[in-house]
Amino acid sequence: MGYGGSRRERQRQRPAPDPTEGARYTRARPSTLWKASTCMATFDILVLPGDGIGPEVMAEGVRVLEAVGQKYEHVFKFTHDVVGGASIDAHGVAIRPETLERAKASTAVLFGAVGGPKWDNPLADVRPEQGLLALRSGLQLWANLRPVVAVPALLHASTLKPEIIEGVDILVIRELTSGLYFGKPQERRVVNGRREAVDTNYYNEDEISRMAHLGFRTARGRKKKLTSLDKANVMASSRLWREVVTEVSAEYPDVKLEHVLADAMTMHLIRRPRDFDVVIADNMFGDIITDEASMLTGSMGMLPSASLGTLGPDGTGLGMYEPIHGSAPDIAGKSLANPLAMILSAAMLLRHSCGLEDEARAVEAAVTAVVEAGLRTADLASAGENVLNTKAMADAVLERLG
Ligand code: IPM
Ligand code: MG
Repeated sequence: MGYGGSRRERQRQRPAPDPTEGARYTRARPSTLWKASTCMATFDILVLPGDGIGPEVMAEGVRVLEAVGQKYEHVFKFTHDVVGGASIDAHGVAIRPETLERAKASTAVLFGAVGGPKWDNPLADVRPEQGLLALRSGLQLWANLRPVVAVPALLHASTLKPEIIEGVDILVIRELTSGLYFGKPQERRVVNGRREAVDTNYYNEDEISRMAHLGFRTARGRKKKLTSLDKANVMASSRLWREVVTEVSAEYPDVKLEHVLADAMTMHLIRRPRDFDVVIADNMFGDIITDEASMLTGSMGMLPSASLGTLGPDGTGLGMYEPIHGSAPDIAGKSLANPLAMILSAAMLLRHSCGLEDEARAVEAAVTAVVEAGLRTADLASAGENVLNTKAMADAVLERLG
């Protein structure tokens, strides 16, 4: 059969997916049809560099995808657009509706970072972060995968003791389209002459159940342990979260489930991080815990992420990929940023949206190789070590990629 056209077009021809069936986010299998095809695969990638160091690291992520395209004979068609502060400056909004539409029609979105002091006014109606939240919600990317893996060569770059973080391999799955970030009401108002504000931690059982299924399925393919975070001792939304996760656990007797209070988890994470395998968390707890977890790897500059919706039967689907480090305005424009989190995010894009597992692993292996060879950007370097700039670090990855 002809196998040209964009991946989205091909997916449209497939039967509607079972909402949980395709949701296996570790090691998506490349489509066998795909392998059998002699056509060159074409992938439409929407590139949204954003603000701060976003554009600098994005340039390197795109270069790596181009190199993968050349080596493995895939065509990546890049469309560039603005988001966040850059979009506010150019268009007055954090993301334009046409950008959102473009994202929906793409194979995947590669995202840099948004925000910076220039747009920090807390009273402003328009804020850079709205661009990111509109993409997460508009594309229904409800599952945010944040792998936290301690790289042996970087054990000494962490502020934690090497013997504590050695062997850490955690996958945090953060709920991304509900909870405190999106619950209504969310507003600021003046009542009886006094300022007040409210956020709402709304969750329904379907939103929790699909997170639980995803967590259990993912844990099944790993060390068979699932940790679910909540504050069930205080919050009604957390009690529902715990109840639904417990109900779903009956379908996965082979996976060990533990419920951990989110505040206690912040402690366990730096005391005994090796005890965790797959962790599921609501939107807010997941946000907080992953910043903390990034320190287990030595530097935030190493951590990629994938934001995914319900996947198709072949285990792939539209996703957005971004480093978790943010826009780092203090080092923007200085060529100091570590591009590895962005490059690893590109690897996740290859795996989860393109179904290119071999290519994803090749990129990850090249990143591991440069780190093992002792190459360091400023965030990873110890005193006296030679420091590479953003482009030189990416060059080293490209060299090893061949
Ligand atoms: C993240 C970030 C975002 C979030 C910000 C930039 C809106 O902290 O992706 O973790 O809070 O989700
Ligand atoms: Mg965060």
